[in-house]
Amino acid sequence: MKTFAPLGFIDRLENAGGLDPLAGAVRDAVNKIVKPQWLRDVLHGVPLGHPLHPLMVQVPLGAWTSAAVLDALPGTGKASTALVALGLVTAGPSALAGYVDFSELHEQQQRVAVIHSSANLVAVGLYTGSLLQRLTGSPGRGKALGLLGLTVVMAGGWLGGHLAFRQAVGANHAEDVPHRIPAGWHSLAPFSELTTGKMERRLLGTVPLLVLRTQANEILVLADTCSHLSGPLSEGKQQTISGEQCVVCPWHESAFSLRSGEVVHGPATSPQPKFLTRVVDGQVEVCLPGAG
Ligand code: FES
Repeated sequence: MKTFAPLGFIDRLENAGGLDPLAGAVRDAVNKIVKPQWLRDVLHGVPLGHPLHPLMVQVPLGAWTSAAVLDALPGTGKASTALVALGLVTAGPSALAGYVDFSELHEQQQRVAVIHSSANLVAVGLYTGSLLQRLTGSPGRGKALGLLGLTVVMAGGWLGGHLAFRQAVGANHAEDVPHRIPAGWHSLAPFSELTTGKMERRLLGTVPLLVLRTQANEILVLADTCSHLSGPLSEGKQQTISGEQCVVCPWHESAFSLRSGEVVHGPATSPQPKFLTRVVDGQVEVCLPGAG
């Protein structure tokens, strides 16, 4: 079966460098407006363990779709007006979560995302007009503008699907690690080769690992591929955050606990696979619970 023709257009969109100034301006504005780290973490979805934006958009999309169904039925004017208003009220926070995610994406993803968000802004404009028409005694025009808004927001949602499933925005980029490593203990490196206090990248088969020999001669090992967008954690920096020894990703500054792999700060929302370690006859061995 041939690929749906418009996908070729989106592939070209990913490489449209002309969108970069607009994407850059939006990114800078978001970073200026949403500064507190705790707020960014909440909007990314760190407490949820996955991105918040796809969850939040269900409310305006559901409200506007329901309003379109009610518009086709007699005597439902008040209910559909209330649903259009609900969609508008909840679109703002949903968009804010999306914009915070947007501010920490690769360029190709930002180019698609900026068109995704532009489509949704047009839809919000159409629904605002729809609401005003309904409230000022022109329900026919309100319904027409609502249908137009729904069409545009669906097109925006299609681009959102491309971002999530083709460009893997919001996905866990370390999910494959337990499937690529056999169960049990594996020899990794001679203990004496590891430099105290220095994060190193070592390969277990084809899987890159971050290895740290601490001042207390403990060996801490995480998957090296950042769960956010595959950044090399071993090239990041060590930092103590709220008493937790962390590694900070060099690409978008997600922070993970070196002891547990848990996310301390986003944009990542999925933890890093954390390996058990032991030293046998001078050789560091690692085991990933749940691997194989
Ligand atoms: S790749 Fe984005 S924070 Fe690591």
